[in-house]
Amino acid sequence: MKRTNNITFSYTECDNIEELNAGDRELLISAREAAKNAYAPYSHFKVGAAVRLESGKIVSGTNIENAAFPSGICAERSALTNASSNHPGDIPVGLAVAAITDSGLSDDPVPPCGNCRQVITEEESRNGRNIRIILGGMNKIKIIDKGEDLLPLTFNKNNLKVNPR
Ligand code: THU
Repeated sequence: MKRTNNITFSYTECDNIEELNAGDRELLISAREAAKNAYAPYSHFKVGAAVRLESGKIVSGTNIENAAFPSGICAERSALTNASSNHPGDIPVGLAVAAITDSGLSDDPVPPCGNCRQVITEEESRNGRNIRIILGGMNKIKIIDKGEDLLPLTFNKNNLKVNPR
């Protein structure tokens, strides 16, 4: 029997960082600060990401490009690997992303690439906790409840039918 399924999700949008709650605002400011440290000599697109840990701590990361293009890493994965490597057991609960172009903070929010979405959802399934995502542009900010919203029908450990050890 054929069926049509629908997947929908809602997210919040605002026009100004002042409209964010204090925690989200702090996280987005950290992402904006981190973006200044990006190494992006090829794209000139400097991305910063900040991860909020369960303890309240914030750890950040940037994109780090490479002359061999695929060897570069995005800011989101850089921040999440930093968190996992240096704060094991302190679960990521939030992630903010911001980008600086040659003309300053990007007008539009920067959505995580597909590769990063896969890594964000692995963190969520690994820890059994959603990661709240704040995508901050100069004139628009998007708040998404969880990484999985950005990657419906995610491939994860359930598909492998093995228990991670
Ligand atoms: N990039 C990120 O760091 N995060 C994103 O969400 C999108 C893209 C980086 C990868 C590359 O260094 C540059 O931005 C241009 O694609």
